[in-house]
Amino acid sequence: MAGYHEYLELDRLLSLQRPRTGHTATELPFIVVHQVSELWFKLIIEDIQGAIQALGADEVGAALQRLRRVREVERLLIDQFVLIDQLPPGGFGALRPALGTTSAAESRQFAVIERLSCPPPGPGTPAADPGEDLWSALCLHAQGDGHDMPVDDTGEARARRARALLEIYRQAGPMFALCEALLDHDQAFSIWRQRHALAAARQIGNAPGTGGTTGVAFLEHRCNRRFYPDLWSIRPDLQFSG
Ligand code: HEM
Repeated sequence: MAGYHEYLELDRLLSLQRPRTGHTATELPFIVVHQVSELWFKLIIEDIQGAIQALGADEVGAALQRLRRVREVERLLIDQFVLIDQLPPGGFGALRPALGTTSAAESRQFAVIERLSCPPPGPGTPAADPGEDLWSALCLHAQGDGHDMPVDDTGEARARRARALLEIYRQAGPMFALCEALLDHDQAFSIWRQRHALAAARQIGNAPGTGGTTGVAFLEHRCNRRFYPDLWSIRPDLQFSG
C-alpha cells in the first residue's frame, strides 16, 4: 500500500515550486498562491461537471451538494489574496522581468469554469451545446419540470424565462434552491474578480498587466460580467413569502 508521500505524490508536488529570480521570499508565495488556485479551479470544474450531470439525471439533491462545495472552494480562492497583499511593496515589480508577457489570463482552467457556468456571452448567442453548461442544464431541467424556460438568448426568450423564474421563486421548491445555488456561484465568482482587481491594484497601480492589457482598468471591466443576468434582473420583482 502506498504511504502518505507516495499516495499524494509529494516529492513531485513539492519539486514544482521553482523561484527563478532569487527573491524567494516574494516569489515562493506568488507561485504557491497561483498553483493552489489552479488546484481549486480543478475541483470547481469537477463539481460543476458533476452538478450538470446530476441535473441531467434529475438528481437535484446531488446537484445542490456539488454547488455547495463550489461555493466553499470559491471562498477559499478569495481568501488567498491576503497572501498577495502581503508581498512587499515593489516585490511584484522585482518578479516582472522573470514573467515576461506571461499572465494568469492564460489560465485554461479559468476559461473552462467560465464556459461550464453559462453559454458564451453576447446578444442572441445560442448555447454552444444545450445541457453542457450549468445554465442550460438548469433551463432543460426546468423544462422537464413543466416550466417555460427556453435556453436561447433572444429578447422574447428572456421575457418567457423571467416569467418562469418568478413562478419558480413563488413555488419555493427544489428549483428555487437550485437558482439560488447558481446565484451563489455567480456572486462568489464576481467577488473573486473584485478581490483580484483590488489585489492587482495594490501591486501594479495603473501599470499595464504582464499579459498586455490595461491592467486594473481591464480587470474592473471584467468585474461587470455575470453568469446569470436573468437571476439578477428578476430580483426587484420577487415577493417576500415570510
Ligand atoms: C501580483 C498579483 C497579481 C497581479 C498583479 C495580477 C494582475 C492581473 C492582470 C493585470 C490581469 C489582466 C491580464 C494581463 O494583462 O496580465 C490578470 C488576469 C488574470 N489573473 Fe491575475 N494578477 C495577480 C494574481 C493572480 C492570482 C493569484 C491568480 C490566481 C490564479 C490570478 C488569476 C488571473 C486570471 C484567471 C486572470 C484572467 C481574468 C479574466 O480574464 O477575467 N491572478 N491578472
